[in-house]
Amino acid sequence: MKAIVVTDQAAGTAGMKLVERPEPQPSINDVVVQVYASGFVNTELSWPSTWTDRLDRDRTPSIPGHELAGVVTALGYGTAGLSVGQRVFGLTDWYRDGTLAEYAAVEARNLAPLPDDVDFTVGASLPISGLTAWQGLFEHGRLRAGQSVIAHGAAGAVGSMVTQLARLAGAYVIGTGRAADRQKALDFGAISCSISSAATSGSGPRAWFESEERSCPSSDRSRRGLPTAWRSTSSSNPIAPN
Ligand SMILES: NC(=O)c1ccc[n+]([C@@H]2O[C@H](COP(=O)([O-])OP(=O)(O)OC[C@H]3O[C@@H](n4cnc5c(N)ncnc54)[C@H](OP(=O)(O)O)[C@@H]3O)[C@@H](O)[C@H]2O)c1
Repeated sequence: MKAIVVTDQAAGTAGMKLVERPEPQPSINDVVVQVYASGFVNTELSWPSTWTDRLDRDRTPSIPGHELAGVVTALGYGTAGLSVGQRVFGLTDWYRDGTLAEYAAVEARNLAPLPDDVDFTVGASLPISGLTAWQGLFEHGRLRAGQSVIAHGAAGAVGSMVTQLARLAGAYVIGTGRAADRQKALDFGAISCSISSAATSGSGPRAWFESEERSCPSSDRSRRGLPTAWRSTSSSNPIAPN
């Protein structure tokens, strides 16, 4: 099969090469997926797991990419819950060859069915950013309905997932981002107030998305912990600075 491999960590993305590799064989509890769409982030090239196995042995040439969407072509011994021909999406193990290839071997538990009306490219873009958002909101943040969330970069990969998941959970989402992204973030479900211009420089948020949908009461807990510059004032929503 065709695959992209890396062998030299110092070379970065310039070291990625398209080569012929053997097709992966499914281990126990694995499936083999024909990859229709794949997700890759260049930070993978600095992850130790891209270069070594769990015993710290060199595993190059390794195939990067850990998100995928495609169709199941083979089942490993004992694999249950998925069938050949099924559309799936999910994540491959950090320490195994990944998804920048025509086929990838994946543990069945790391895959989910991909609905017929969801494109493969959409399916492959979801797993890591979606999981990051889910873990932040529900595992670390223990978010509950009625609470408020600040999503920095609410129109970005993680921020858009944070915004949608938090809204589905019944939380209020205050988004930050560029003015050009405002409508996108509002469409994802962000609700916000305006912010003073002092907060638009440096590394702080560049703007608060504005919405008439909900006012931000001064008692809102999500705003109490914010630095003074991040607190907003607007005629409809007076928020007293510290
Ligand atoms: N994507 C993942 O799967 C993933 C997984 C784990 C961790 N992370 C981490 O999560 C963070 C976000 O990653 P991402 O993939 O979601 O990036 P992304 O798609 O580029 O989204 C980041 C968003 O934040 C905006 N932004 C940047 N600086 C800002 C500021 N000062 N105020 C308000 N908005 C600002 C960006 O706007 P512009 O594009 O207009 O600058 C962009 O819309 C990064 O730290 C990344 O390392 C990401």
